[in-house]
Amino acid sequence: MLQGKEVLLGVTGGIAAYKSVLLLRELIKEGANVHVIMTKSAQNFVAPLTFQTLSGNQVTTEIFTLFSSSKIGHISLADRADLLVIAPATANIIGKIANGIADDFLTTMVMATRVPVLFAPAMNTNMWASPVVQANISRLKSMGYNFMEPAEGELACGTTGRGKLADVDEIMEDIKTLLSPNDLAGEKILITAGPTEEAIDPVRCITNRSSGKMGYNLAMVARRRGAEVTLISGPSCLPVPCGLPTIHCTTALEMERIIHENLDNATMVIMAAAVADFRPAEKSEKKIKRLGDHCLDLEPNPDILAGLGKIKGKRFLVGFAAETNDLVANAREKINRKNLDMIVANNVSTCGAGFCCDTNIIKIIDRDGTIYDFPQMSKEQVAEVILDHVVASRKKDGKEQ
Ligand code: CTP
Repeated sequence: MLQGKEVLLGVTGGIAAYKSVLLLRELIKEGANVHVIMTKSAQNFVAPLTFQTLSGNQVTTEIFTLFSSSKIGHISLADRADLLVIAPATANIIGKIANGIADDFLTTMVMATRVPVLFAPAMNTNMWASPVVQANISRLKSMGYNFMEPAEGELACGTTGRGKLADVDEIMEDIKTLLSPNDLAGEKILITAGPTEEAIDPVRCITNRSSGKMGYNLAMVARRRGAEVTLISGPSCLPVPCGLPTIHCTTALEMERIIHENLDNATMVIMAAAVADFRPAEKSEKKIKRLGDHCLDLEPNPDILAGLGKIKGKRFLVGFAAETNDLVANAREKINRKNLDMIVANNVSTCGAGFCCDTNIIKIIDRDGTIYDFPQMSKEQVAEVILDHVVASRKKDGKEQ
């Protein structure tokens, strides 16, 4: 996700400095080229060699470090970066930057750079709550600097409260948001995910193998790109994306009701959920016993997406087609029958595509029948590709109107 991105990681002197090693590893895993800048006191907590070995780049610790082509170090780094993240950010560094002090490499770099700067503060709870720190943060925010809220919990100093460095996953999410285009700003998107479950009796149900990963990734990526997202999730073991409005449901009928309750302002619906097409005609209130003759009567669930297609208006509708055969023919038939703008088709019986994997192999088919083929990608990358396509179609629609 961060392939080709240049990230500057500023590390300041707090016990949470060891967690920035984990952050560095995540950044590298996602493809970023990372340059680490350490303050003098940060070097009391973690050795520069750790960051140097993991990043494969020289760690900057001195203000007068010169880089190649005789450019002043901080200017050279500040010019070619995409983002600067300071994690952990102490009360001291926040105070210095808020008041224009540039007396070491990191503070000078912050003054010199024009790229987005993200602070992930970590400090004692009382320091965090102090009016001085809060005033400095407000001042920096008003100037366009980005801040993460520290987490609550047990702190290294023995107290409990707010002040822990935010989770590495959350810092990564904010970094990705700052590096994403804001091309879905203004869109209000309902995204469904996961399977539905239709009860047979209190212990058994009809469901399918959908994990929810595709829908959850779409929701996260759409939010990063500026959309207002509501995730409507069937039963899934995945953690709820931090701060993302999520409504849980179990059955197809519940999912349909929740969608309609939230439809008024939605400009787009992406149905990534694998909705059960049938439900037991009757649910037994007691567990059905083994002995005896059994026959399961089914009745159809509503086709939620086809229902949305009937009242579509200007809303953009994206469907998924989970197929095991005749992929393109079946997907095209679904676009027409359900009145969709776009369908994402995948062969769920192919290795590396479909329900429980972390990857998917998709084809996107437009309303006019054009097919776009994609290789195997992570579901996060697939979400990017789908949303790229949505943005392009929206632009085209806008021009045609
Ligand atoms: N869908 C829906 N309601 C249903 C079944 C499916 O809204 N009761 C949606 C899915 O979320 C998906 C699209 O319709 O976006 C296609 O789902 P799929 O299961 O591939 O197709 P079906 O319409 O159920 O047809 P079939 O099972 O016969 O292939």
